[in-house]
Amino acid sequence: MTTTPVDATTTPSWADLQRHHREFRGDLRGWFATDPGRAERLTRTAGDLLVDLSKNLVTDETLDLLVRLAHDVDLPARTEAMFTGEHINVTEDRAVLHTALRRAPGTQPPLVVDGQDVDADVARELDKLSAFADQVRSGAWTGVTGKPVRTVVNIGIGGSDLGPVMVYEALAPYGEGGPAARFVSNIDPTDVAQKTADLDPETTLFIVASKTFGTLETLTNARLARAWLWERLVAAGAIEDTAEARQAAVGKHFVAVSTALDKVAAFGIDPANAFGFWDWVGGRYSVDSAIGTSLAIAFGPDVFRELLAGFRTMDEHFRTTPLERNVPALMGLLNVWYVNFLDAHTHAVLPYAQQLHRFPAYLQQLTMESNGKSVRADGSPVTSQTGEVFWGEPGTNGQHAFYQLIHQGTRTIPADFIAFATPAYPLSDAEGDGGAVQPGADVHELFLANFFAQTKALAFGKTADEVRAEGTAEHLVSARTFSGNRPTTSIMAPALTPSVLGQLVALYEHVTFVQGVVWGIDSFDQWGVELGKKLALEVAPAVAGDDAALAAQDASTKALVEYYRAHRS
Ligand code: F6P
Repeated sequence: MTTTPVDATTTPSWADLQRHHREFRGDLRGWFATDPGRAERLTRTAGDLLVDLSKNLVTDETLDLLVRLAHDVDLPARTEAMFTGEHINVTEDRAVLHTALRRAPGTQPPLVVDGQDVDADVARELDKLSAFADQVRSGAWTGVTGKPVRTVVNIGIGGSDLGPVMVYEALAPYGEGGPAARFVSNIDPTDVAQKTADLDPETTLFIVASKTFGTLETLTNARLARAWLWERLVAAGAIEDTAEARQAAVGKHFVAVSTALDKVAAFGIDPANAFGFWDWVGGRYSVDSAIGTSLAIAFGPDVFRELLAGFRTMDEHFRTTPLERNVPALMGLLNVWYVNFLDAHTHAVLPYAQQLHRFPAYLQQLTMESNGKSVRADGSPVTSQTGEVFWGEPGTNGQHAFYQLIHQGTRTIPADFIAFATPAYPLSDAEGDGGAVQPGADVHELFLANFFAQTKALAFGKTADEVRAEGTAEHLVSARTFSGNRPTTSIMAPALTPSVLGQLVALYEHVTFVQGVVWGIDSFDQWGVELGKKLALEVAPAVAGDDAALAAQDASTKALVEYYRAHRS
């Protein structure tokens, strides 16, 4: 595999897309009116997901051209290169093998990459973390005073936090009866202070999750948590105030997840209580590695394995399905169409499932840390726009906040709507409201009515004549008119099970990959976060009162730090 990616903008299909774009006129109303087969023709399935692409601003020709583009940039070969462990993360010279974390046990031939039996290593760590999770859940693993664990606190940030938090919230109904989980990420001391305030140290287990075990935020929070543990245990008379007793407490109340087991040991955590993964798992692709230890404890290892099986279902779909029917490929290509031809700057993800309230935040790291790049994999400047801003909130909350801009703003905002047929909590409204909401109304149906209505409104809008026909005063007609032609993808599944969640996450992982391939970038490095980290360490002495360090700052930074120093109480 060459490290010089094909430049999409030089391909014949790109030129054809440009021509097609010049002639393109989005007309979802007209298309649906004249083409009764459109919805069925543009709906795909992948695993348990039904994906309706028909309300996107595309014709059959657009999709054909996008699929040609995928071939022109060698998407199938690049996909195979990822799955087989080629070093497609070129700037870090690494394989990209998050898909290996969820290969079916016993798959033949085993995956051997760079001399490492990847399948065997993955199976070993998964078994180890499953056994540990069982021990904690059964009460066989106790704290230093012999009490079972009631709360696990995952300390991590970025990929070592967002995935576990998102899954924990999404699968909450599966956690009943198990230990609770909390997540500390921010170096703002408020985070650790608030998350530990009401905890009992004797029944709390901390998981320090850090791929590198060198992240300032995580290690600082881990030290704060360790100090909290010692202080509380000593104050309660639960342990002696000796170095040995403190170390024994760490041994029972701290475990780690990392690729850097030497640093784990240096922190004082017994490597026997550490769960490993490998440099070929990117942080933002790591929720299905040992980074999910908090999840295996909260939900049990069987649920965690079901989640992995869901990822695998989507992996197999992505790897084997022809591009014309390949959902991640088509969604990624649609995003390219919107970003590079229809000038979309952002992409909304709108889950109609409260349990997915952290899904957009999770996707922000996945998509934006992956594809927010200005150089291609060979170091040359990109030749088109890259990574759009992903954002969103669950419906219906978003409807009462920012949907106005999606419906009537000046920008094209492609949006993915996600919903599930069966709710986790099937509640009905016994009383109703005496009007539209009948007594006994199934509240999930009211919820989903919004899901269906929104994509309809966005696609088809409301013409000025329709507004007039309602008797609207002429001077208000334009304000009440909806242009329509606002593109959406609707994703549905029977229920938000662990498997379905895995399928959804893997779907977006592969969507992100597809866009990165078209743009010719390395979607698996993240050099852009380094400069700020380095400067924070350089500025820290100035903040702490070092006048020479303060004098070395630029005028704006200096004034801001001075403000801080003058106002800190
Ligand atoms: O700063 C960005 C980043 O490196 C992410 O890519 C990563 O998920 C996060 O920091 C946390 O890193 P670690 O797991 O090594 O602590």
